[in-house]
Amino acid sequence: MNGKINIALSGGKTPELLFTVLSAEYKNKINWGKLFFYWVDERCVPPDSAESNFGMAEKNLLRNIAIPAENIYRISGEAAPEAEAVSYSEIIKRNIPSQNDFPVFDLIMLGVGEDGHTASIFPDQMNLLKSDKIAEVSKHPQSGQKRITLSGKVINNSDRIFFLASGKNKADVIANILEKKEDYLKYPAGHIETSDGGLKWYLDKEAASELKTL
Ligand code: 6PG
Repeated sequence: MNGKINIALSGGKTPELLFTVLSAEYKNKINWGKLFFYWVDERCVPPDSAESNFGMAEKNLLRNIAIPAENIYRISGEAAPEAEAVSYSEIIKRNIPSQNDFPVFDLIMLGVGEDGHTASIFPDQMNLLKSDKIAEVSKHPQSGQKRITLSGKVINNSDRIFFLASGKNKADVIANILEKKEDYLKYPAGHIETSDGGLKWYLDKEAASELKTL
């Protein structure tokens, strides 16, 4: 590591809680200047929208800590999605060291949805797991909202991957994936892995409640 720590953040409720705790309890305990924040995915909305993943991080973490503006690489959700996926890929290529032709983040933080999606890779868009691009445009299956997401290959090339999940509604899908039940590969999150044990799951009691080995 060259002193810079490159982290890709997710949106959603669980990171929101983490950001609040980081702001309240770790504000003065972390050398924020060493951290460089990118996003795993973004909803195609302006940054001040209540749905913006960047906006959520800004409100709950970034504005509360001493992090230089140049350490923050947001996805422009307000831009034309296809063009933004290309330009965000270029930003990542320029700034993140690569291996096996793909960028290597130091840490990628992920969530998982009840339907097994992770990042903005949904069960009806499994092709994004194998895409050779760094970032792709995807679509939320119910709302049709466009998203920009890192591809599965970029995620799996990360040094460390932390899944954060909370709540009873996630318990079934999490047990399926962690216990590799027979259909676990139908979930995008079931395809996430690192080569050397860098994958960790952080669950609250409810999200872990269907696991046999508790
Ligand atoms: C997003 C995400 C998404 C999220 C999961 C879990 O923008 O929605 O990055 O992949 O991590 O949907 O979200 P919750 O923590 O809100 O359940």
